[in-house]
Amino acid sequence: MRALVIGGAGYIGSHVVLALCDRNIEVTVFDNLSTGKRENLDERAHFTRGDILLQTDLERVFQAGKFDIVFHFAALKAPEESMLLPGKYARNNITGSLSILDAMDKYNVRNIVFSSSCAVYGESRYIPIDEKHPLKPINYYGYTKLVIEENLSWYARLGKINYAALRYFNAAGYDLDGRIRGREQNPTNLLPIIMETANGERPSMEVFGTDYETEDGSCIRDYIHVNDLAEAHFQAMQYIMGGQKTLITNLATGKGYSVLEVIESAAKITGRAIAYHRADRREGDPAVVVAGTDRALETLGWQAKYSDIDTILKSMWKVYKH
Ligand SMILES: NC(=O)c1ccc[n+]([C@@H]2O[C@H](COP(=O)([O-])OP(=O)(O)OC[C@H]3O[C@@H](n4cnc5c(N)ncnc54)[C@H](O)[C@@H]3O)[C@@H](O)[C@H]2O)c1
Repeated sequence: MRALVIGGAGYIGSHVVLALCDRNIEVTVFDNLSTGKRENLDERAHFTRGDILLQTDLERVFQAGKFDIVFHFAALKAPEESMLLPGKYARNNITGSLSILDAMDKYNVRNIVFSSSCAVYGESRYIPIDEKHPLKPINYYGYTKLVIEENLSWYARLGKINYAALRYFNAAGYDLDGRIRGREQNPTNLLPIIMETANGERPSMEVFGTDYETEDGSCIRDYIHVNDLAEAHFQAMQYIMGGQKTLITNLATGKGYSVLEVIESAAKITGRAIAYHRADRREGDPAVVVAGTDRALETLGWQAKYSDIDTILKSMWKVYKH
C-alpha cells in the first residue's frame, strides 16, 4: 500500500505519518515546509519538497509514485487571519485542493482522506454538534473547508473518488512515545498558549470571556489527542477502501473542558503558576462547542482513547518544558 501524505510535515500530518509507517504503509510526504518541519518526519517516510499551488511540483510527485491513497493536510488554518486575507486562504486551501483532485484524476488515484474542521458548522444551534448540524461557517477558513467538502462530494458522485472528510474539533497533544518534538508553528489555540505561559515564553495569557453561561464562566471546548486522530485516519482509510466509498464524520471526544479548568490542570501537571488575566469575549466565540461522536463509533468503531485533558497536557509538556 502506498500513501501520499500532503502536508505530512505539519503538526497533525506528522503524527499520521507515524501511524501509517507503524503499519508498514509506504509513505511519501509532500510539503512546502511553510509551517511543517523536516525534523518531524519519520525516517521510514520518503520526502518531496513541493507546493500544491505549483502544477509542476504536483505532477512530479504523482508521476514518481503509484499511490493508492492521498491524505490531504496542507492548508492555512488561522480563522482570524482568514477574515483579513481571504484571497490567500482561497488560493492555498480551495485552489490547492482542486489541483490535488485534478492530479488524482489524471494519475488514477481514487482515494482521499481530507482534514476538515468543526469550523464548517459555525455557531452551534444545539449541543452536542452532530454531523447533521447545519453547515454555516462564520469565518472564511471554515468556508474553505466546506467548499472542499462539497467538491469531494461531487467528485465522488461522478465516480472519480472515494473520500473521507474528517471534521476535527480541537487537535492537541504530542506523540505519546515522544517521537515528535518540533512544535506547532504560530499557534493561536489555547493549549499551546498555556504551555508557552507555563514555560515562561509568555509572561501571561488572556482568558477571553469569563461571563458565559457555563459553570465557571469560561468557554468549553472538545479536545482530541493527535494520536487518537492518527488512529482514526488509518481506520478511515480502511473504511473507504473497503467498499464503503464515502465518510463524513466528526473526530472528537464528546466531552468538554472549560478554559479555566484546562489552566488549572496545566498548573498541576507542569508544577508552574500560569498567570492569566480576564479579557472581553471575542466575537464569534460560542460558549460551548462539544461534538456528537456516535457516527465515528458506528462507522469506524473509533473512540478517543488518549484524550483526557491530563494525558493531553502531559504529552505537550514533554515538548514545551525544554
Ligand atoms: N490543528 C487543529 O486543531 C485543526 C483542527 C481542524 C482542522 N485542522 C486541519 O488539519 C490540517 C493540518 O493542520 P495542522 O494543525 O497539522 O497544521 P500545520 O500548519 O502544522 O500543517 C499543515 C502542513 O501543510 C503544509 N502546507 C501548507 N500549505 C502548503 C502548500 N501550499 N503546499 C504544500 N504544503 C503546504 C505546511 O508546511 C504544513 O506542514 C489542516 O488542513 C487544518 O486546517 C486542524
